[in-house]
Amino acid sequence: MASLKCVLLPYEGGLFAQQQGWASAEAKIQELSVTEQLINDRSVVRPDQLYEQHRREPSQPDRERPWAVRYTLRLGWTGDKDFTMNFFSRSYSEIVEAPNGVRPWWHSVPLPDGRRIKGAHPDIDRQFKMWEAMQIDAEFLARPKQRVLDIGANDGFFSVASAKSGASVTSIDTTNWLTWPHNITYLSQQWSAQLDVVTYDFRRYCFDQQFDVIFFLGVLYHVENVFECMARLKNLLAPQGTIYLETHLTSIAVDMPIWESASDLFSTSAPLGKSTIGQIGISNFLLPNVQAVINLAHIFDMKCEPLLDNAYCLEDPGRGMFRITQ
Ligand SMILES: C[S@@+](CC[C@H](N)C(=O)[O-])C[C@H]1O[C@@H](n2cnc3c(N)ncnc32)[C@H](O)[C@@H]1O
Repeated sequence: MASLKCVLLPYEGGLFAQQQGWASAEAKIQELSVTEQLINDRSVVRPDQLYEQHRREPSQPDRERPWAVRYTLRLGWTGDKDFTMNFFSRSYSEIVEAPNGVRPWWHSVPLPDGRRIKGAHPDIDRQFKMWEAMQIDAEFLARPKQRVLDIGANDGFFSVASAKSGASVTSIDTTNWLTWPHNITYLSQQWSAQLDVVTYDFRRYCFDQQFDVIFFLGVLYHVENVFECMARLKNLLAPQGTIYLETHLTSIAVDMPIWESASDLFSTSAPLGKSTIGQIGISNFLLPNVQAVINLAHIFDMKCEPLLDNAYCLEDPGRGMFRITQ
């Protein structure tokens, strides 16, 4: 009998069960031979107490929940099926720095064994919040199979999330990002996610197809020519396709469309990083306001809808998410 360990966060019990395809977490616990349960790896509790506690806690937004409360179930597993996490489950058993020995990781990403890789941002759920901000319908990605292009794919959170949702995914980045393609390769192998991984500048690479969905997340302010860049995105987008554009925003509040020039000389919303100016995609160039992004899409006859009313943008007003369509 294998001994397995899983962690259920109290407020995720229902969602977690649903993602695993279980009728309910309680039903699964009864079906499995649960040998031991711990809260915060300390007190041993009976299975019925776990859900008593769960019920006592009224549902609250994530950020008001105490992360300290974690339930650990030690399971005596009699089935022949491996217990693996769903990619979209926010539960994790422990945080790991570099499971493949390669640091730094930009993305905080789950692993199938329940561990979570530590990303660059202190908010361990930052990439999940970005995914939610895009309001992507996972079923839409699978039916019919959507062609996704992840530009500046980095460690691969959004590529793997799309592949696990059923999309056909091309991920592109350059070796100026020093962990490319080591981390995305490791992640895709861990999740058995098929990705077409391309090492090239997206502005110059000869793609042999157009894409239904383009992720352009955290890349706009790294390009010198935003107009050439938007023309390129439009050219890569299939009819009826969608571009999800995420960007650093200027902190200057004004109603007209403006692009703030990032600088090392003056105090600006982000530094230029002049020492890396010759490398692709490292320095910061232009920081738009919301109106400037809408205007940029409009110049190329595309519609742009700001997606700002979500945890990702509300918690970090220096970032904006946009949905751009033909
Ligand atoms: C700030 S990171 C954002 C990573 C990821 N898209 C996200 O939003 O979490 C920017 C990424 O874009 C990549 N990048 C920037 N310019 C690029 C270009 N011209 N072609 C390919 N990748 C580029 C960088 O190497 C880096 O991995």
